[in-house]
Amino acid sequence: MAPTIAVIGGSGPEGRGLALRFAMAGYSIIIGSRDAGRATKAAQGLLEIKAGLPITGAANEDAAQQADWTLLSVPYDGLEATTTALAPYLAGKIVTSVVAPLAFEGGVARAVVVPQGSAAELVAGLLPESRISSAFHNLSARDLLKPDMVLDGDVVVCGNDDDARAQTIELAESIKSLRGVDAGDLTNSRYVEDLTALLLNVNKRYKAHSTIKLVGL
Ligand SMILES: NC(=O)c1ccc[n+]([C@@H]2O[C@H](COP(=O)([O-])OP(=O)(O)OC[C@H]3O[C@@H](n4cnc5c(N)ncnc54)[C@H](OP(=O)(O)O)[C@@H]3O)[C@@H](O)[C@H]2O)c1
Repeated sequence: MAPTIAVIGGSGPEGRGLALRFAMAGYSIIIGSRDAGRATKAAQGLLEIKAGLPITGAANEDAAQQADWTLLSVPYDGLEATTTALAPYLAGKIVTSVVAPLAFEGGVARAVVVPQGSAAELVAGLLPESRISSAFHNLSARDLLKPDMVLDGDVVVCGNDDDARAQTIELAESIKSLRGVDAGDLTNSRYVEDLTALLLNVNKRYKAHSTIKLVGL
């Protein structure tokens, strides 16, 4: 049976988009929010896009406790406090960070320097008993939220735990037409996270939703 996935910060566009696609692939999803009512509303909104999917909502703590796997989809500013508060529920489980540490100046995105190297390594330091992976940073929330849109591209997956990385690649490939790329350990996550700033700035120029695809593999 497919694992149940909690999407922390799942009321935001990226979390909702990933939740929709993973539920379409057969995973059971619990949308997490700091406010249980907001989580339920977000879950209902996704069911209006596509009825009958296995999506519910709960407060972040309840979502993390009930799920087998947790996705962190909050802004970088809130990542440390959110992760620390959820730590008691995440031991032994896979935790996947989709967080791209970004700041915006005059409408231009730039990557924020993370003392630990990357958002994913920050999470790994806070959750030594969990199995951390990082993925999905370069997917557009808007495109994820269009259930019939084919997403052609690569999801670069990092993680020090081989099984967590393999399962995250499988999760990425549960979305039709996406390919999961094994990027090895978590120290590579910074490059994928930072690339999000470049994509956003390119998107603005082209009025597009770009993603990445590696050639030659
Ligand atoms: N948007 C994209 O296209 C995209 C693409 C790739 C990667 N990402 C990454 O994915 C993550 C989520 O993106 P998003 O656009 O969905 O973000 P967002 O809308 O800014 O935030 C997502 C949710 O996080 C919660 N949140 C906000 N501030 C928080 C804080 N200080 N502490 C704890 N929770 C907080 C909010 O939920 P509640 O108030 O309901 O708790 C919010 O709905 C970000 O790290 C972003 O870099 C986004």
